[in-house]
Amino acid sequence: MNSAIILIGPMGAGKSSIGKRLAKRLSLPYRDSDQLIEEKTGVPITTIFELEGEAGFRQRENKVLAELVSASAAVIATGGGIITLDENQKLLSANKHVVYLKASVNSQYQRTRNDKKRPLLQTNDPLARLKLLAEERNPIYRRLANITINTDQQSMMYSVDEIIQELGLHEPL
Ligand code: S3P
Repeated sequence: MNSAIILIGPMGAGKSSIGKRLAKRLSLPYRDSDQLIEEKTGVPITTIFELEGEAGFRQRENKVLAELVSASAAVIATGGGIITLDENQKLLSANKHVVYLKASVNSQYQRTRNDKKRPLLQTNDPLARLKLLAEERNPIYRRLANITINTDQQSMMYSVDEIIQELGLHEPL
């Protein structure tokens, strides 16, 4: 039996797109921490940042992650900043299937440049913001992950194959 498979990594690494495809291949439900927060609050993430700041959003994210990891097996895509809270690092460390989807800052920038839904990138210089976040967070993703998959050059289907193979998962017949 597969336990939860948790995808971590920065904005624009492909967590949602790869997560959905991986879930399908493994016949597991797909869950997404950002989506669950929006469902629970009934407002977009940008509104939560406006009303409660990043700290308020992180508290909500922590509750949702605790809920997701204790539920039955699923592929779970997480928000890029989930690894910033100690409590979340503990929850992730307790899991054996944590996948770091890695992307260069350049790919992240190309994939997110027209995005209006990520509050941390609504600045005059989103590239500089992505660089700074990468410096702070990439070592944490690396430390928490059981495997690392580079999503820069390869297709999503190839990344899915790599995850299944490297984690030694079994696909349903
Ligand atoms: C964030 C990443 C976003 C979302 C929020 C904050 C971050 O998720 O949780 O905007 O701090 O890196 P994605 O990684 O899915 O874009």
